[in-house]
Amino acid sequence: MVGSLSLPTPVRRSLVHLLCALPLVYWGWQTLLTAQGQFTPISTDPGAVLADKTGFWAISLLLASLALTPLQRLFRLRWVKYRRAVGLWAFVYVLLHIVVFYTLILGQDLAEFWQEVVERPYILVGALASLLLLPLALTSTQAAMRQLKKRWQQVHYLVYPAAILAVIHQLWQVKSFELVAIIHTLVLVSLLGIRVYWWLGKRNARRPKFSSQA
Ligand code: HEM
Repeated sequence: MVGSLSLPTPVRRSLVHLLCALPLVYWGWQTLLTAQGQFTPISTDPGAVLADKTGFWAISLLLASLALTPLQRLFRLRWVKYRRAVGLWAFVYVLLHIVVFYTLILGQDLAEFWQEVVERPYILVGALASLLLLPLALTSTQAAMRQLKKRWQQVHYLVYPAAILAVIHQLWQVKSFELVAIIHTLVLVSLLGIRVYWWLGKRNARRPKFSSQA
């Protein structure tokens, strides 16, 4: 039985970290081979390919972190305890995405970076999403949770506008039909939709019921 084979939570958490790190290890390895002059999947255009890969993992993990609560409520998959780990990895890929853009695409030109942010709306939207994710990453520790108490939850509501902006950023940069961008959009709409549905249900349940005979 799966239940009797279940691993302790710290081991599972390490597995989650390992799984989230796999794309980084794989693409890091390809980058190393490319730098040594070997032909790899990124050789033709390292900047564009790595920006795509890091962007893809950033948004996929961000959405995955948002999916854990519905998965627990709907299918009793007790994965919510890994939400912070997955969310943190999403932020790691966001940072790598920005680093790739700044170093490989812009050649470490800070002035051009700001110019791109100001002139290209989809970059500005991506930058805003990154800014909203920053406080979440900074307050992802147990200590921050203890210190902020109720305000921690309020800070972490920023994940919703950040995810919306990230999906807009992805949709905005597509040059032709891109199934992945559509799937990410549909996943986000479903995740937000189910939360709104639950919230409305809770609000209606709290409302006092008036008797028609009164
Ligand atoms: C300052 C912040 C950001 C900058 C400068 C930036 C820059 C870029 C650029 C230049 C591209 C197009 C790459 C290409 O031409 O193929 C791109 C695509 C993308 N970005 Fe960002 N981005 C930022 C933030 C974010 C954030 C916060 C996320 C998600 C959490 C994200 C997710 C994506 C995705 C999913 C793509 C499309 C990748 C694909 O083609 O599959 N970006 N970004």
